[in-house]
Amino acid sequence: MAPHTEQLTRPAVRLRGLTRSFEGRTVLDGIDLDLPEGQFTALLGHSGSGKSTLLRAIAGIDHGVAGSGTLTAPERVSVVFQDSRLLPWRRVLPNVLLGLDGKDAEERGRAALAEVGLGGRERAWPSELSGGEQQRAALARSLVREPELLLADEPFGALDALTRIKMHALLRQLWERHRPSVLLVTHDVDEAIVLADRVLVLEDGRIALDLTIDRDGPHAHGEYRTRLLKALGVSEDAP
Ligand SMILES: Nc1ncnc2c1ncn2[C@@H]1O[C@H](COP(=O)(O)OP(=O)(O)OP(=O)(O)O)[C@@H](O)[C@H]1O
Ligand SMILES: [Mg+2]
Repeated sequence: MAPHTEQLTRPAVRLRGLTRSFEGRTVLDGIDLDLPEGQFTALLGHSGSGKSTLLRAIAGIDHGVAGSGTLTAPERVSVVFQDSRLLPWRRVLPNVLLGLDGKDAEERGRAALAEVGLGGRERAWPSELSGGEQQRAALARSLVREPELLLADEPFGALDALTRIKMHALLRQLWERHRPSVLLVTHDVDEAIVLADRVLVLEDGRIALDLTIDRDGPHAHGEYRTRLLKALGVSEDAP
C-alpha cells in the first residue's frame, strides 16, 4: 500500500544540488530536497543558517542562484513574510486583490478575508489593524491566489504568544481546507512540531535532519522536541 501511495504523490518542489554563496562564503551547499504535493513542512535552523536564502531560491526571487542546481516548483506560489507587507496607502481589500484581475476577484477577496476572520474589515487601512490582523490579511492575500505552494518566512515571528497560538490554528485550518504544499520557516521548535508533518533542520548549508511528525504514531511531542533540539545543538537544560 505504502509504495503505491508514494507513487501517487508527485513532488511539488524538486531541488537538486542547489548551492548559494555570498562573497565566496557558501550558505547553501548542494541541497537536494523534494516537497510532496500538499505536505506541510517546517524548516528550522540557527539564525544565518540560510533558511530565508533557501526559501527565496524556491520562490524564484533570488536571481543570484541562477545556474546552480535545478529547481522545479509549481506555477502558483505565494510568499508570506514576518511583516505583512501591506501597502499603507491602500485599504485592506485592495491590498488583498493587488495584481489580481478577473470579474470575480473582488468576491474571492472578500471570501478570503472572511476565511481569516476579517470579514467586515475590507475598508480598513492597514494601520488600523493589529499585528495579528495584518498577518491574517497577508494570509488572505496569499490564499486568494489559490497557491499550489505557500512559502512562509517566520510569519508569526513578531506576534505575541497568544496571537501566535491562534494563528497556528488558523494556518493549519486553512491548509487542511486548501491543501497547498507549505514550507514554513520558523525559529520555534514547538511551532514546527505542532504545525508540520515534516520538520527539516538546516545546518552548514545542508539538511542535517529530515524528521517526519506522525500525529497518530507513538512518539510524543517531547520526543520530537528532544531530537530537534539535539540537531540544533541546543541543550534542553540550557537556561
Ligand atoms: N544578499 C545577501 N548578500 C550577502 N550575504 C547575504 C545575503 N543574503 C543572505 N546573506 C548571508 O547568508 C547567510 C544566511 O542568511 P539567511 O537570511 O538565509 O539566514 P536565516 O537562516 O534566514 O537567518 P534568520 O533566522 O536570522 O532569519 C547570512 O550569513 C547572511 O548574512
Ligand atoms: Mg531568515
